[in-house]
Amino acid sequence: MTDDKRLISALRGVAQDVPPLWLMRQAGRYLPEYRALRAQAKSFLEFCYTPASAAEVTLQPIRRFHFDAAILFSDILVVPDAMGQTVSFETGEGPRLDPIETPEGVARLGAFDVEKLSPVFETIDRVKSALPSDVAFIGFCGAPWTVASYMIAGKGTPDQAPARLFAFRHPAAFQQLIDRLVEASVDYLLRQIDAGVETVQIFDSWAGVLPAHEFEAWCARPIARMIALLKEKRPQTPVIAFVRGADAQLPGLTRRLGADGYGLDTALDPGWAVAETAANVCLQGNLDPLALIAGGEALDRETDAILETFRGRPHIFNLGHGILPQTPIENVERLVARVRRG
Ligand code: CP3
Repeated sequence: MTDDKRLISALRGVAQDVPPLWLMRQAGRYLPEYRALRAQAKSFLEFCYTPASAAEVTLQPIRRFHFDAAILFSDILVVPDAMGQTVSFETGEGPRLDPIETPEGVARLGAFDVEKLSPVFETIDRVKSALPSDVAFIGFCGAPWTVASYMIAGKGTPDQAPARLFAFRHPAAFQQLIDRLVEASVDYLLRQIDAGVETVQIFDSWAGVLPAHEFEAWCARPIARMIALLKEKRPQTPVIAFVRGADAQLPGLTRRLGADGYGLDTALDPGWAVAETAANVCLQGNLDPLALIAGGEALDRETDAILETFRGRPHIFNLGHGILPQTPIENVERLVARVRRG
């Protein structure tokens, strides 16, 4: 059954006449029905851990736009939460964690308690039975580097300097943190797969700040290890790697990581990506989220250029980064109609 879903077929290397379409962060604040439900929750994490709510907001964008995939509603920071780190989300300010400032802080982290995330697996179970039969279901986690950058800084930072400094000062402890995240993230994704997601995406949103050798140590090697472990245990489940800002590294990554799909970020020239990667590699992306806000002819032009560039090869239409809260819904409708027109 699974292979009938166009997104899964594309990930298996089969070009589709009309590319399957979903949008990163498609469940979220640009939707009034999301804001209404979110307003009732005490906190963002509680919202993520309430299966009825999380399942409902996972399905909202499918009902409205009939995208080719639903992405589980959760967050990358539930993994540190399940390691016993204090995690909260301040409205308008983003995540706040109790920062890890010393090697002892890494040693003090608890074991990854995957059972704490059982509401997430229950959400998956609920969504699975409500999804239309042609819509694929995507699970996800953050990549070790991106998650570690929040665990060390205790918040989002423009340049991830706290984590980079920690890695210079305490390389052994930082390596230990990355290794623990590799293990926890693989356990977490295996449980998501067993609960019913059909593919998983690994988000390395902050890979772009790393110089080459750090990129190798903290981004490429840990993700390659995660994928090798996933492939060993669930060989049938396709994996998408979204390594944001790793532009020049893309050809090497598609040879090394062993993923089935590669997300391209907004800055990447899609024509170059097509030329530099093997023809059976599924590429995902990469409409500029600002073009989706602009709408009109600018949106049509950008959309057509992407469709044209990827025509004839396995491609998943997506944004180059998450949809922004101020995006007009009619522009999303316009995009969907344009992509489906072929
Ligand atoms: O894609 C989806 O619709 C599924 C849900 C999803 C969320 N976060 C929900 C969310 C996914 C896949 C994520 C991933 C995520 N979370 C990433 C990687 C992707 C990326 O965009 O780079 C990162 C870095 C995070 C960490 C995070 N969570 C931040 C920095 C913030 C605050 C900034 C923001 O975008 O609001 C969050 C909160 C968050 N996660 C919200 C949502 C819908 C908004 C919170 C709210 O509704 O109050």
